[in-house]
Formats: sequence, C-alpha cells, structure tokens
Amino acid sequence: MDNRRIGLFDSGLGGLTVMKELMQLLPNESIVYFGDTGRIPYGTKSVDTVIKYTKSDINFLKTFDLKAIVTACGTASAIALPHLANQYDIPVMGVVAPAARAAARATKNGCIGVIGTNGTVRSDAYRKILEKENPAIQTVSVACPLFVPLVESGYAEKAATKMIAEEYLKPIIESGADTLILGCTHYPLLKKVIAEVMGEHVTLINPGVSTAYEVKEMLGEKGLLAEEPHKEQYRFYVSDDPSDFAKLGSLFLERSISGLAEQVDIEQYI
Ligand code: DGL
Repeated sequence: MDNRRIGLFDSGLGGLTVMKELMQLLPNESIVYFGDTGRIPYGTKSVDTVIKYTKSDINFLKTFDLKAIVTACGTASAIALPHLANQYDIPVMGVVAPAARAAARATKNGCIGVIGTNGTVRSDAYRKILEKENPAIQTVSVACPLFVPLVESGYAEKAATKMIAEEYLKPIIESGADTLILGCTHYPLLKKVIAEVMGEHVTLINPGVSTAYEVKEMLGEKGLLAEEPHKEQYRFYVSDDPSDFAKLGSLFLERSISGLAEQVDIEQYI
C-alpha cells in the first residue's frame, strides 16, 4: 500500500484523456497533472527538443512526493522515453508500449494501423515494439497533424473532420488493418468519426485505456496501490494561462476543473 501520488504529464491538455481512464480504473489514486501548454505542440518538434521538454516536465513532477510517473503524451512517449525512462528512481511509464501490446493481442490478421503526430510516426516507436511482440505483424503508420487542432477547435463531430479523416485513413484502410492504434492524446475524442470511417470490423485501441490497465498492474505487483485518496485528490499545473486549460480540459476530462489549475514556470526545471 502506498498513498503517494502518481504524476502524469502531457504537452498540453490532451493527456487528460489518459487521466480520465486512470481516474476510472483507480479511484483511490491521487494524481498530479502537468500540461505543458506554453510549449505545445511537441508533435512538430525535433527529437532533441522533445527530450529536453520531457526532462523538464519530469523534473517538475519530481518536486512532488510521487510513486510513479505516467507520460500521457504520445509524442514524448515515442521519442523521449526510450532515452529517459530508466534514469529515475521511480517507474516512468509511457502510452506507446501498453497500446502496442493491446493492439498485438487484438489483431487477428496481423496488420495494425497507427496514427499519431508527425514526431510519433517519424520515431517508428510503435513498429519497433510491435515487431518485438510478434515479428510477423505488419504496421502501417500515418501522421494526422490536423486532428489535434480540429479537436481543440471543437470540430470533432463536423463533416469537414470526417472528410479529413477519410483522406488520412485511406492508406490504413487499403492495408487491410483490422486494428488501429489512436496514437495521440486527442484522438480518442475523434473515436466516433474514426470508427465510422474505418468500419465496424476494425478494433480501435485507446492508449489511455491500455496504459491505465498497465499502471494498475504495475502498482499491484509492486504493492504500491493506494488505500485512500488525498484530500485534494487531483492537482493540475500548466505552463501557460490556467483559465484556457480549465475550459477545454473540462471537456477532455468530462468534469469541471475550473479554478483548479495553477501556472508554473517550466523553464526553471531544465
Ligand atoms: N499530446 C501530443 C501527443 O499525444 C499531441 C499534441 C502535441 O503535438 O503536442 O502526441
């Protein structure tokens, strides 16, 4: 039993889709969330920059008394974690490996689609893990850079978004993939449109769900599950204006977080 908090971070508010799954699966856990809203997007940045930002995000979270850190950002998980994950005295987990493992279990025909930011797709992180899980698996990856701004602009269910999704997902449909990894924090909010375009026979993998299960498993195995939550169970920090974060964040988390977020100068944690 360990009542210390779990730290969770993302390049912005998208990581709240991962936090939502953790909150549902582990209702006794207390979580501190950091959203790097001042430096988003990570998906278009170089490898060195994503590693540098990820280091400072972890350094900030390490100022709390934590038992584990979850990298909720698809891009940071794909690009920075392979370089950083083993450097800390507490477990630092990402979303890529749990989602890849879930996809490898789900596929029947061995063909898996991956969508994510430019950075995630360029890193090839999903293919590397999927190949380790099963060398026979074929991976088809497509970057969908317009999806993040569409979600953040409230376009998730508009006809224009469906047209863009049809365009982006064409190579994945043509590949015959029966499983598709929604490899970016924002994509679970486009699940309806993506499911319509891909068709019922394709299984969609939400990395937030797979990660929450692996976090639960890891905490259970190490005897680190919390018995009861802290009085202030959820705390939120951002590197830009907290009011904007709270407005959109409430949508991502499906509960109000208005007035709960504080601003932090992340440049101090290099
Ligand atoms: N959070 C990022 C991800 O999951 C999307 C936004 C960004 O580009 O920073 O990859």
